Amino acid sequence: MEKTTRLKNSGDICMDDISLHILDIAENGINAGAENIFIEIIESTKDDLLNIKIKDDGKGMTEETIKKITDPFVTTRTTRKVGLGIPLIKLAAEMTGGGLGITSKEGEGTEVNIKFKLSHIDRQPLGNMIDTVLAIFANESKINLKYFHKKDNREFEFESDELKEISKNLGISNGILIPFMKKYLINNYNNFKSKKEYDSRSDYKNEKNSLEVGK
Ligand SMILES: Nc1ncnc2c1ncn2[C@@H]1O[C@H](COP(=O)(O)OP(=O)(O)OP(=O)(O)O)[C@@H](O)[C@H]1O
Ligand SMILES: [Mg+2]
Repeated sequence: MEKTTRLKNSGDICMDDISLHILDIAENGINAGAENIFIEIIESTKDDLLNIKIKDDGKGMTEETIKKITDPFVTTRTTRKVGLGIPLIKLAAEMTGGGLGITSKEGEGTEVNIKFKLSHIDRQPLGNMIDTVLAIFANESKINLKYFHKKDNREFEFESDELKEISKNLGISNGILIPFMKKYLINNYNNFKSKKEYDSRSDYKNEKNSLEVGK
């Protein structure tokens, strides 16, 4: 079947949730040769703010590129003429009265800072952050991914290198590292989202045990 894509304006391309935008921005960092990616999400009901920062230690950008980067016709890709990752999330943030800022230094890395008004009717849902974390890590297993999520008074922290180390110490083979991570994230991230008090480190053993008995 013939596939046609006609892009009239950026509103025609719609990413349903914010986690897909985050994946896109993190992939920019990976494409820029980053070894470390840090994703920070802070949801504050009090400030009516959803603040997302994605930081990488890739090759960075020049001032000129930063200035042009929110224009949908700027990209260093050769396969396609338009780069839409950054303009799309910028638009999504601006629709809520928020915005996007980029700071970058050549040879050091980049930080993308996005602010959404939390309660705004046009704010997209955050979406599935577990899938986003796993997608980043599965695509580039050498990346050390840190993820910090604060929702009012609750916090969740994940670091892939740390989990790798723990799984090694628990005798978990590389083959089941991703399922181990997935199980860890499903249990702990969902706990974080629903519980008031939460200890992010308490469940490593449980994950290992349940993997062993094939639950
Ligand atoms: N973290 C980063 N480090 C270095 N360069 C970056 C970074 N993020 C973006 N860029 C530069 O900005 C350009 C535009 O990024 P953007 O995400 O908007 O589009 P793209 O990645 O080229 O394409 P798309 O996201 O639509 O697949 C990139 O091609 C790249 O040159
Ligand atoms: Mg991109």
